[in-house]
Amino acid sequence: MSASVTLSGSRVCLRRWREEDREAFAAMNADARVMEFFRSCLSRTESDVMVDHIEGHFSKHGFGLWALEVPGVAPFIGFTGLSLPGFSAHFTPCVEVGWRLAFEHWGRGYATEAARLALGHAFETLALTEVVSFTSVKNHRSRAVMERLGMRRDPADDFDYPSFPEGHPHRRHVLYRLGPGSRFGAG
Ligand SMILES: CC(C)(COP(=O)(O)OP(=O)(O)OC[C@H]1O[C@@H](n2cnc3c(N)ncnc32)[C@H](O)[C@@H]1OP(=O)(O)O)[C@@H](O)C(=O)NCCC(=O)NCCS
Repeated sequence: MSASVTLSGSRVCLRRWREEDREAFAAMNADARVMEFFRSCLSRTESDVMVDHIEGHFSKHGFGLWALEVPGVAPFIGFTGLSLPGFSAHFTPCVEVGWRLAFEHWGRGYATEAARLALGHAFETLALTEVVSFTSVKNHRSRAVMERLGMRRDPADDFDYPSFPEGHPHRRHVLYRLGPGSRFGAG
């Protein structure tokens, strides 16, 4: 498996990260609207550490959170892709599909289109038998992406995200699951 795989759709391109993406990514990670459901915004250093971690994941596994480009619109609007969560829960080990877009690129369907490409790669190329996604119970925009993809939530799978402290309003998370026979590629 090549670690440099690029996935292209009708509007979006999932590609490996470039040095110049780091500045735009740090700006996103400093935006309270983008980071509403995380513990806090990230400093430039924390944002760069995350990019290093993403690159390390690509090197180790051959897939990861791809940088998201919209040709003709913007060279970098965030990320969408596949990753192995670094914590233990009742559904791990697993592969997660995830996304984070700059606020000005919300509401255009880019996250869903990109996630469909990532899921195609997960099921058709990597031959995975399941992909999950999870987010804070209150993150309705992210849950809507999961639902558009045909992912299914069982309330019995809800869990407390370990890195949020007890009592934190976003600690409770929902888990969505998808298998290879689903219609994520439709639409
Ligand atoms: C989660 C997140 C990626 C969702 O972004 P989004 O823009 O709502 O999702 P999509 O890109 O799939 O866009 C869907 C919207 O685009 C609209 N849209 C406009 N043009 C469209 C087109 N050509 N095709 C498809 N949808 C289109 C859809 O109708 C939908 O609108 P709605 O939200 O009013 O229903 C974004 O809110 C985000 O980055 N949040 C911060 C990070 C985060 O919380 N990540 C998840 C943590 S687990």
